[in-house]
Amino acid sequence: MIYDFDQVIDRYHTGSSKWDNVEARIGEAQALPMWTADMDFACPQPLIDAVVKRAKHPIYGYPYVTPKFSESTIRWIDKQHGWKLKPEWLVFATGIVPVFNTMIQAVTEPGDKVIISRPVYHPMAFAIEDNGREISDNSLIYRDGAYTMDFEDLRRRAEDPKAKLMLVCSPHNPVGRAWKEEELYQISSICKENGVVVVCDEIHSDIMLYGNKHVPMGTLGTEAMKKNIITCFAPSKTFNCAGIRTSVIVAPDKGLREMLNSRFKKNRSIQQNIFAMPALEAAYTKCDDYLEQLLLYLENNVDFVRDYLNERMPKIKLVEPEATYLLWLDCSQLGICGDELAGFIIHNCKVGISRGDSFGPEGKDFIRLNIGCPISTLRQGLDRIYEQYRKRF
Ligand SMILES: Cc1ncc(COP(=O)(O)O)c(C=O)c1O
Repeated sequence: MIYDFDQVIDRYHTGSSKWDNVEARIGEAQALPMWTADMDFACPQPLIDAVVKRAKHPIYGYPYVTPKFSESTIRWIDKQHGWKLKPEWLVFATGIVPVFNTMIQAVTEPGDKVIISRPVYHPMAFAIEDNGREISDNSLIYRDGAYTMDFEDLRRRAEDPKAKLMLVCSPHNPVGRAWKEEELYQISSICKENGVVVVCDEIHSDIMLYGNKHVPMGTLGTEAMKKNIITCFAPSKTFNCAGIRTSVIVAPDKGLREMLNSRFKKNRSIQQNIFAMPALEAAYTKCDDYLEQLLLYLENNVDFVRDYLNERMPKIKLVEPEATYLLWLDCSQLGICGDELAGFIIHNCKVGISRGDSFGPEGKDFIRLNIGCPISTLRQGLDRIYEQYRKRF
């Protein structure tokens, strides 16, 4: 191991949303932050070096996106997923959440429906409602501790003439599914047949656990299906640099790309951060070993949680993750849910998890635990829950 993921780094007073904002967001100053989706690991050294080098130049004026940005991205996506992107398909953005909003504005009208599969990353629902569109919730099916898509329901929803767009999360946050090729193909074909454009959020696609393979939805099916998809990638989860605010949008269809770009221009939201350039270039060309080691570390953390729960807290069930560093824990056997469950974990145990019901009503019996942290922090979090669990359950 070159990287020391065991190292505990104090993040308080660094302007960290996860650590410095915990009281305001979770209402419990003493909570150990295991919620927002960034990791407590140092970024890869080549990325840090590249940003520091740029920071030492004394002028931070408006940036210009050079071809190196595209070249580095094309290298990475080809290496990771074997998808050969064309430079003209790429649009750089300051995050993926802004793309949800931009695409909703670009391809739907107020009152139209946007399909999502809850429980799912909550800013998808916020983006739909904030823009005056309606959520069409194609709830995932949860059976025998595992999640699948409800394709019959999806077809019905896609056939509704008011449904114009679907936001897909692949791999899926929070349930940790790495969708299989057949599943992605079905989503894509149902949407294409019914004139529903797809935004496929693949931000977690590098964090594939236990040898699971990510398949970009945009590589599947006919040319027409491929052109119906806008895919979102970013170095932010993989290399723990979400605060740099950069993401890559792949839009092979000229029409959709122009709609996206013109809406971005209208919103004046296309400008990159000056530090995004060196960060993304370094991440996508010099940090392969970081990801290899990170995945091993995260798998070990998942194994640790699984064993810990089985041995000490058998009423909390791990939904086996195939991807991401966010664990979805089924607490239905505790007999408490929603506010009571969140209150128990956050205020009694003092662990700052994400509430399951923040991802949709389907999540009321669940909590999401971020395990992107040194194993000693993880142990501390689980010990805090166990202390209270053994008294109450
Ligand atoms: C599925 C998913 N999409 C998007 C984001 C955030 O994207 P960005 O920070 O680029 O807006 C996250 C962060 O947790 C996420 O989990």
